[in-house]
Amino acid sequence: MSMTASFDGWMQTVQVHVEDALERFLPAAGTDPARLHEAMRYTVLGGGKRIRPLLVFAAGQVSGAELDVLARAAAAVEMIHAYSLVHDDMPCMDDDALRRGKPTVHIAYDEATALLVGDALQAQAFDVLAADPIVPPARLLAMLRVLAGAAGSGGMCGGQAIDLDSVGVSLTQAQLERMHQLKTGALLKASVMLGALAGRDIADTEQAALATYSNAVGLAFQVVDDVLDATADSATLGKTAGKDAAANKPTYVSILGLDASRALAQTLRGQAHEALIPFGEQGRRLRELADLIVQRKA
Ligand code: IPE
Ligand code: IPE
Ligand code: MG
Ligand code: MG
Ligand code: MG
Repeated sequence: MSMTASFDGWMQTVQVHVEDALERFLPAAGTDPARLHEAMRYTVLGGGKRIRPLLVFAAGQVSGAELDVLARAAAAVEMIHAYSLVHDDMPCMDDDALRRGKPTVHIAYDEATALLVGDALQAQAFDVLAADPIVPPARLLAMLRVLAGAAGSGGMCGGQAIDLDSVGVSLTQAQLERMHQLKTGALLKASVMLGALAGRDIADTEQAALATYSNAVGLAFQVVDDVLDATADSATLGKTAGKDAAANKPTYVSILGLDASRALAQTLRGQAHEALIPFGEQGRRLRELADLIVQRKA
C-alpha cells in the first residue's frame, strides 16, 4: 500500500479492504438461523468509522505485515468493537435507540437477538483471527491473547463494569482515566499491537514506543467521545447526543470542563506524536490517525 498516497487516499484503500474482509468473514445472510445472521450483518456492515481497523493497518506499516493478515486482524477487532456497541446500547446498559445512524439492534430486532448478536460476534472474531493461514502459530497465539486480554474483564468489559458502577459517583481524574483506558483504550491499543505483531519481529523498545502511542491515543479517543457527547448533535454523531449528562455519568467534560478536556486531547496527541519519532516515515499513518482521532467531529 503506497506510503506516498494522501491520508484520505490511504484511508479509502484500507476501508475497501476492511469492508471486503468483514463481508467475507461474517456468516452469509441466508444461512440458518437467518434472523441472527441478518442481525449480525446489520450490526457490522455499512457504518462506523473503522478507526480500529485503520490502526491495525497503520501499525502494519511499521511491521511490514501482509495485507491479508492485517485485513483478518482488522475484521476481528472490529467485530469485537461492534459487539461491544450492541451491548453498550441495550436497556440494561446505556439504553440507546440510535447507533451509526440506524436503530440499535435491540430496537430493530429485539433484546434477546441483541444479546446473541454480541455473543456470536465475539466468538466469530476469535474464529476469524485463529483461521489465519499465514502467521506462524506461536505468533498467532500471541495475537489471539492480545485480543482476548483487551476484550475481557481486564480490558473493555472491565471498563464497562466500572462505567456502570460510576453512575452518579464523582470519580477522581485518575479513576476516570483508568475507566477510559479500559473501556475504550484497551481495544485501540490491541489494534495497534495486532498490526505490529502481524509482521516482522518487533524489538522491545519498539513495542514500548507503540504502547506509549496507544495509551495516549486510546485515552484521547474517549476524551473526544465525551466532548462530542456534550457538544455535537445526534444527526452528526449517528448516536444520541447528550446521554452522558442525562445519565449522570462521570466524564472528562463533567470533571475537567470542555476547555480543559479539549486541551488534554491536544496534549495526548503531542505525546502520541513524540512516541512515533523512532519510526520515522513508517510511523506516518499512525501519526495521521492520532490527528484524526483528536480532530474528528463525529
Ligand atoms: C464509539 O466508538 C464507542 C466508544 C468506544 C467511544 P466509535 O466512535 O469508534 O464508533 P464507530 O465504530 O465509529 O461507530
Ligand atoms: C462505550 O462508551 C465504550 C464501549 C465499550 C462500547 P460510550 O458508552 O461512551 O460509547 P457511546 O458514546 O455510546 O458510543
Ligand atoms: Mg457506555
Ligand atoms: Mg454508550
Ligand atoms: Mg460516549
